[in-house]
Amino acid sequence: MRYSWMVACEVMRLCPAGPGSYRDAIKDFTYSGFTIPKGWKTHWTMYSTHKDPRYFPDPDKLDPSRFEGSGPAPFTFVPFGGGPRICPGKEYARVLILVSMHNLVTKFRLKKAIPDEKISYGPFPIPANGFHICIEPRSLQVMY
Ligand code: HEM
Repeated sequence: MRYSWMVACEVMRLCPAGPGSYRDAIKDFTYSGFTIPKGWKTHWTMYSTHKDPRYFPDPDKLDPSRFEGSGPAPFTFVPFGGGPRICPGKEYARVLILVSMHNLVTKFRLKKAIPDEKISYGPFPIPANGFHICIEPRSLQVMY
């Protein structure tokens, strides 16, 4: 399910499940001209690279082909974090996502209840009315 995973990755790039994570500064350090004292809590956010046109040209466009071949540069696509604290559930999550996608797409037809529903930012993008969908089973003939 290579292409399905490319689609899932592109969705997680545009709208990651979490906005980022936190780290404690264990010593004073300087980053980009700012001095961060020991003990401060720092926040890293996925959007700083997920939406950076240097790594993802035309970053607001949904384009699963970005994940073809070797995919994005290391540490630019980080929905599961990276490095020693990378999400240990990543591969399990991948199986769950792909199995869910497979069942949704092959067993049901989905239609947006509000076709032109707006997105609100508070600060993360979410459908303004909760993204209600009309769902109906596909006939067995279509499925198999
Ligand atoms: C789409 C699903 C998931 C996403 C997007 C996700 C994302 C993340 C992220 C961003 C982190 C923080 C990494 C960091 O601080 O550098 C994390 C940590 C973690 N995740 Fe997940 N996760 C997912 C599913 C799961 C599942 C299914 C499990 C367990 C079965 C899991 C277990 C954990 C644990 C235990 C940590 C803490 C790791 C540590 O601090 O060393 N996650 N995850």
